[in-house]
Amino acid sequence: MDGSASELIPVTRPTLPDIARVQATVAESYQAGMVTTGAVVRLFEEEIEKFTGAKHAVAVSDCTSGLILAFAAHLFPRDGEVIVPSFTFSATVLALIWNRLTPVYVDCLAGSMTVDPEEALKAISAKTVAIYPAGVFGLPPDYDALTEISERYGIPLIFDSAQGLGSTYKDRRAGVFGRCEVFSLSPTKVVTAIEGGMVTTNDSELAGKLQAMRDYGKGPDGEDMLYNGLSARMSELHAAVGLLSVRDADALIAARHRLIRGYRGTVSRFRGCRVQETPSDRTSTGNYFSLRIGPDALTDRDGVARALAAHNIQTKRYYVTPVHMQTAFRNMPHRIVGGLLNTLAAARESLVLPLYSHMTDEQQDRVSAVLSSVLTNP
Ligand SMILES: Cc1ncc(COP(=O)(O)O)c(C=O)c1O
Repeated sequence: MDGSASELIPVTRPTLPDIARVQATVAESYQAGMVTTGAVVRLFEEEIEKFTGAKHAVAVSDCTSGLILAFAAHLFPRDGEVIVPSFTFSATVLALIWNRLTPVYVDCLAGSMTVDPEEALKAISAKTVAIYPAGVFGLPPDYDALTEISERYGIPLIFDSAQGLGSTYKDRRAGVFGRCEVFSLSPTKVVTAIEGGMVTTNDSELAGKLQAMRDYGKGPDGEDMLYNGLSARMSELHAAVGLLSVRDADALIAARHRLIRGYRGTVSRFRGCRVQETPSDRTSTGNYFSLRIGPDALTDRDGVARALAAHNIQTKRYYVTPVHMQTAFRNMPHRIVGGLLNTLAAARESLVLPLYSHMTDEQQDRVSAVLSSVLTNP
């Protein structure tokens, strides 16, 4: 990168461990020809268990497969209802469709954009089999309020924590809440294995099932299939990248928080704009920084995105189409609770700005200068 004013500033980039360290970590497995679900994968799982405090971590090929397996392991009745936010990434709901479960969409909170526990409560019916919140941009939902509902009604909580590895709630790291949490390690995540996913749980029986299910569902003899699984193993090479990445997690997150403080300072001067609220009982991984550009702003959301694009600065209108309105999902069986007004507002207003752990101050200054030029009076 030449650091010039015309250089592309991407919306995200993985901050990867040094290739020589990856090579050294995987060398033994590689030379032995034991290249999948071997010693490095187990080391990575143990590191995640230590990092999150969860009893078990099960590595999978990606978060979507982990979510599909988490639901499949429960053998919920077909057409059971699952309470889920619509302001999330589509993969959250894909896991339900693959399990022939019915999404029941509920609204998010206006400030944090995470699922509104009161709306989740209203959505419960005789057919509800699970409550399925998702973290938003690295910020966890209100785990305690959701756990209280889950325990009161005896309905399991399964968390899509794709962007949340390293986030905290009341001083505990994400990974220990609900029946299980599923993390993504794809290249857009703060901690990455290039591609990968991790399911964490304190439930030993569920962990055992998932270990079999990521390998087609194989039983101990390797011949008789015990479960309806997937081919969703993690390779040793991916695990080596993930292991080194999670060891750097605190520094990767701290670098983002510093940049986020910079953005917050800049955008506080913009009329009609706000940012995702972080309740004082939790911390985000800073996976994404979302600027909410409301109707009173000097330039509308899409105009701001165009102005930044004209300066070779990428943004993401995230999540521009709530899941319940997307082509693949709107004709599938589903239920919608209430008007989803906060979801629709977030989808209209949210613009994700460039943010990655190795982003430089000069790059951030370029983004801020363009933002200031269209969102403040001269
Ligand atoms: C909320 C959410 N769920 C699920 C996923 C899917 O993760 P993966 O690409 O690892 O399958 C993502 C990925 O961005 C996500 O943001």
